[in-house]
Amino acid sequence: MSGIKTLGQFIIEKQADFSYAKGELSRLLRDIGIAAKIVNREVNKAGLVDILGDAGTVNIQGEGQKKLDIFANTQFISALTSGGECCIVATEEEDDFVPIDSPVSKNAKYIVCIDPLDGSSNIDVNVAVGTIFSIYRRKSVEGMATLDDVLQKGTEQVAAGYVIYGSSTMLVYTTGKGVNGFTLDPSIGEFCLSHPDMKMPSDGSIYSINEGNYVHFPEGVKKYIKYAQVHDAASNRPYTSRYIGSMVADIHRNLIKGGIYIYPTTASSPNGKLRLLYECNPMAFIIEQAGGTASDGFKRILDIEPVELHQRTSIFIGSEKMVRMAEEMMAKYTAPVYN
Ligand code: AHG
Ligand code: MN
Ligand code: MN
Repeated sequence: MSGIKTLGQFIIEKQADFSYAKGELSRLLRDIGIAAKIVNREVNKAGLVDILGDAGTVNIQGEGQKKLDIFANTQFISALTSGGECCIVATEEEDDFVPIDSPVSKNAKYIVCIDPLDGSSNIDVNVAVGTIFSIYRRKSVEGMATLDDVLQKGTEQVAAGYVIYGSSTMLVYTTGKGVNGFTLDPSIGEFCLSHPDMKMPSDGSIYSINEGNYVHFPEGVKKYIKYAQVHDAASNRPYTSRYIGSMVADIHRNLIKGGIYIYPTTASSPNGKLRLLYECNPMAFIIEQAGGTASDGFKRILDIEPVELHQRTSIFIGSEKMVRMAEEMMAKYTAPVYN
């Protein structure tokens, strides 16, 4: 076994880095890893069983839910409930946050915000999907935790991560001291350290955006897309366009290769589509920790003050130079919209 380091071993080794609640945060990360393995098992056999397709229900945001959305949501809530370290789970799939009031959770100090299955429209066609999670420490000191405990700025995250169920399954996370990636070895059922201390290139040549919405984009984004398509050998343009439609997969690729992912405001989604608490804050924390940048086009994602659970925001995230250039275009051609 020499040379292999499992997620569990790595977490224990790194406990000393946590400024508080060492064992508890470790156990919480372990619980998330276990649920991810269960979800991975179902995602991998999705084509074989009656689990593909629509569940026939819609979530709070009016989006159709896939059966696997619901399965993943249930698995993560259940793992966090029995793990005993989490007092609230806020999930994209539930109207309200889920308070955890179990005998083992009496002293639980952590809030988990989660997108249990990201990119779910890709499930039926065998394209990579993911899970995104974000961990906060509760602020209130007694009684049941409340909405105020959930509505914290991204800068308050103590950990964040994602799982990508792709050609291999990976778990990537940060506790604010760099980013590490683990690949699931199905033969031993363990996430093993495969990408230590991940760093995002400061520049890149991939841009990822749903260009079908071009006509509805703010002027600054249109100008950035045109900039990306101009021939200029010195800056490696024209860039390559890559868009999977699973935020986790698009950002994971860009993290490794260098690139920018943009989901701007559009005419139909004037506040953007992606959710601040479940998608943008955790991905922004990870990307910043890897040396990249995340902005809403004008300001840092992690500095946005959340006012509601399912709040949305525009996002420009990736290699620092690319995000700064896109911000320049926004500053020049688009007036900021604040919700
Ligand atoms: P979810 O499946 O959790 O609802 O998230 C889907 C998100 C994100 O993963 C993806 O990048 C984006 O929606 C794709 O949106 P478009 O289809 O509008 O491009
Ligand atoms: Mn999502
Ligand atoms: Mn989702």
